[in-house]
Amino acid sequence: MSDHLHDELTKEREAEILAAEREVYYPPAEVVAAAHVKDYQSLYEQAVNDLEGFWAERAQELEWYAPWEKVLDESKAPFYQWFVGAKTNIVHNALDRHLKTWRRNKLALIWEGENGEHRTLSYFALGREVNKFANVLKSMGVRKGDRVTIYMGRIPELIIAMLATAKIGAIHSVVYGGFSTEALADRIEDARSKVLVTADGGWLRGKTVNLKDIADEAVRRSGYVEHVLVVKRTGQPVNMQTSRDFWLHDLLALPIASQKCDTEVMDAEDPLFILYTSGTTGRPKGVLHTHGGYQVYVSTTLKWVFDIKDEDRYWCAADPGWITGHSYIVYGPLILGATSFMYEGGPDYPFPNRWWQMIEKYGITVLYTAPTAIRGLMRYGESWPNRYDLSSLRLLGSVGEPINPEAWRWYYRVIGKERCPIMDTWWQTETGGFMISPLPITPLKPGSATRPLPGIVADVVDEEGNSCKPNEDGYLVIKRPWPGMLRTVYGDPDRYVQQYWSKFGHKGWYLAGDSARRDEDGYIWVIGRIDDVIKVAGYRLGTAEIESALVSHPAVAEAAVIGVPDEIKGHAIHAFCIPRAGVPLPTEEELKQHVRKEMGPIAVPARIEFVSVLPKTRSGKIMRRVLRARALGQPEGDLSTLEA
Ligand code: PRX
Repeated sequence: MSDHLHDELTKEREAEILAAEREVYYPPAEVVAAAHVKDYQSLYEQAVNDLEGFWAERAQELEWYAPWEKVLDESKAPFYQWFVGAKTNIVHNALDRHLKTWRRNKLALIWEGENGEHRTLSYFALGREVNKFANVLKSMGVRKGDRVTIYMGRIPELIIAMLATAKIGAIHSVVYGGFSTEALADRIEDARSKVLVTADGGWLRGKTVNLKDIADEAVRRSGYVEHVLVVKRTGQPVNMQTSRDFWLHDLLALPIASQKCDTEVMDAEDPLFILYTSGTTGRPKGVLHTHGGYQVYVSTTLKWVFDIKDEDRYWCAADPGWITGHSYIVYGPLILGATSFMYEGGPDYPFPNRWWQMIEKYGITVLYTAPTAIRGLMRYGESWPNRYDLSSLRLLGSVGEPINPEAWRWYYRVIGKERCPIMDTWWQTETGGFMISPLPITPLKPGSATRPLPGIVADVVDEEGNSCKPNEDGYLVIKRPWPGMLRTVYGDPDRYVQQYWSKFGHKGWYLAGDSARRDEDGYIWVIGRIDDVIKVAGYRLGTAEIESALVSHPAVAEAAVIGVPDEIKGHAIHAFCIPRAGVPLPTEEELKQHVRKEMGPIAVPARIEFVSVLPKTRSGKIMRRVLRARALGQPEGDLSTLEA
């Protein structure tokens, strides 16, 4: 089996996992006593015995304009439908309903800028800003079903723009602010967005990023955008194109930006957002989520896993531009009426104390981040966090890639002081929310996401679909549908079927694209991707996208990209390029700059090597396994299928 798998376990990692399988950490009694879910097994069994009844019960915790006729419709599988016939809008549950209660005066968002600026928004204030923004979008001609691309840094307007779009029934497509021209242009074009919301610039490590310039170039390349709405963040000079570009603050000052805006009544299955993510081949896929099932799934899972309470100050340190931010900065916490914290900058700027200082300052109770950030901060040593009072923390979280036991132990001991359980949440852009994750009551093993949440039937299977034996690597599959699942790939239903359902879809199983193993206790250990996706510092990148950025340089005829293990980032990008004959050879640095300009800093290869041939199969597929072995100085294995 392992021959087919992309991310194979190295001997060192395998030994680490085997040791960690025997290391169990029990949750403190007070955490267990306070937890929303006290009995995993009975909840899990309730879902197995009556999946529809189980989710109906969870959905009843939210408000609906009209009830559903059927909880789950499998008749068009794999195009599953949830809460069929129900009328709703996620913004009703995230904002409107709180405004009728005492929560209107509760803080929804606490925000700190990289430059130390500070802003808070109560539910009432956020609701008002969303209404004004929604009216501005309407004045630009945005209607139900239209797409709005949002491209900016981690500032409150990003959240306001998402909610405003959803409120009027339009579909948002947030593009991470760290992406660059070509990546943005591709995503605008695929979604055919009418409006682009951006900012003049963003702050990054004390410098400004020229977001508006990148946006201008992307709009020029893609050609669908009618209007660009610009948030003033840095105050840097930008070009504004008359009658196409508008400053948000100018429009907010006009009578069109009224504080009143009705929430559009949507069908449960109407699209809420498109979020692009990398897959096996070609361009990024637009993963589509809908209003009804998604709202039930993200709020339920957040309540269970991070045990959200009214007194919490919850900090998900991801970017709203990724699914983690969509589900667990924006929609999940707002639906639960929680107070969230968001920070504009990175963890170590200007000093590695930045995060710890803010945990102390704001009394953060839950911190949810990625292994790469933990490993990065760990490198600076314990003295940085030890200078701060972190006693407000009660739960920690990890997401985005497997967490190595060493980083887990550091996080647990140094940040959580051995009293904050770590929720290692396995999920994907496609799943909408947490799938395999501990609950605060779960005994933990460092590096394992533990068990599937109630309502999720997960398994590790071999090529034929048989469940693997303990500690045997196999395909991670989900055997029953769940409300937060993606509904399709935007504009490409065939790709949806092909990507997720071609292998085991005849059995009704979703293929996650990860390899995993289960230990003797039934705990799941996710190993890594089985496709051409590389996880770099938790970011999901497709080899095809980076390769196409490389070959868009005139001096590159062909390119192949692989991921190689990296101590901090999990994987680093290693590129092999065949130079184009007759064109002067660029330096490695020049090519890196080119990728940075086209794709963004996250996609820049750590190494670029020039080669005269690339190992390919007879059918012309690049043998990444051979390249990986070469890059790691390992034996190249069986080359019998190599091109003659
Ligand atoms: O390989 C798995 C890894 O991230 C992939 C999903 O990436 P993305 O869609 O960008 O979503 C990331 C945030 C939800 C998965 O297929 N992954 C995510 N969480 C974990 C993980 N691998 C191991 N352990 C995790 N906790």
